[in-house]
Amino acid sequence: MFKKDNFFVAPLAGITDRPFRAIVRQFSPDVSMVTEMISCHSLVASHKNCQRNFDTYESEGNIGAQIFGADAELMADAARILQDNGAKWIDINMGCPVPKVATRAGAGAFLMRDHKLAGEIMESVVRAVDIPVSIKTRLGWDDAHQDWTDLVDIAAGCGVKFVALHGRTRAAGYTGVAVHPNVSNSPIPIIANGDIQTMDNVKEMESLGYAGVMIGRAMLGAPWKLHELMGGVRPDDIGRIVLHHLDLVIDYYGVRAGVPLFRKHAAWYSAGLPGASAFRVAVNQITDLTELKDKISEFWGCVVKI
Ligand SMILES: Cc1cc2nc3c(=O)[nH]c(=O)nc-3n(C[C@H](O)[C@H](O)[C@H](O)COP(=O)(O)O)c2cc1C
Repeated sequence: MFKKDNFFVAPLAGITDRPFRAIVRQFSPDVSMVTEMISCHSLVASHKNCQRNFDTYESEGNIGAQIFGADAELMADAARILQDNGAKWIDINMGCPVPKVATRAGAGAFLMRDHKLAGEIMESVVRAVDIPVSIKTRLGWDDAHQDWTDLVDIAAGCGVKFVALHGRTRAAGYTGVAVHPNVSNSPIPIIANGDIQTMDNVKEMESLGYAGVMIGRAMLGAPWKLHELMGGVRPDDIGRIVLHHLDLVIDYYGVRAGVPLFRKHAAWYSAGLPGASAFRVAVNQITDLTELKDKISEFWGCVVKI
């Protein structure tokens, strides 16, 4: 049976920011989490428009900082900065299919097409830091090129410690059902990712030789999901959790950015509950923080703490 060290929260851009990670840790203090992807260019240049460029991780438990880019030296520089900022390991994005990353920047999933560059980046990053390095990738570029085992072999040769494998190709994006190949013969540990939602899914991944599971979208509106998958009970004071999450978002982003940014979380938390669509419509129009807190407390029948 997998232990707490075998459970990971997947990187989700725009979602697994510091406030979200703090909420997850309330339920699962020991799980491993990965930051949203961080551009090596933006980080090294300290671009001010991206708040995560200034995060530090000393107090965050086991956390991997994920970088993306196509320049081996800049990726190494970025990895060093993140190591100095307290990241426990560095994860290299080799799976993002978004055109801005994979085609225009030649990074993310594009590295599945260019194993030479992928190898140079892995070598450069492994050499640059003392902490472990992992990669996160997919089965391959498309159905005709499902060559993930080649990339895993290269990774192992470069000193990469483990791989998170999303069971889809770049071409599939997020469509269809994730397929999880047997990884028992892999030279380094592989973490299963893609559509994992139940304890049965977790058990299946264990039987296929995976060293752990990484959960992404099942955490949306359910930051207690990993806690549940590890045998814990679902909390019953959801309204209080939503309000606390909102407070953390406001502390981190400020009211002006934080209130609109929280709308998607409010929608995910409320999904499936009676009155959710009217709640969502109302929340999407609110710009005032007190009004938003009142709406949340009214919906979940709890008391706002000002
Ligand atoms: C909104 C969103 C943002 C994502 N951002 C990232 C990212 O920053 N880095 C990354 O490697 N993968 C990213 N992914 C992919 C997820 O980490 C994960 O591989 C994928 O969602 C499949 O796992 P799941 O079915 O458990 O969600 C993102 C996916 C979504 C839906």
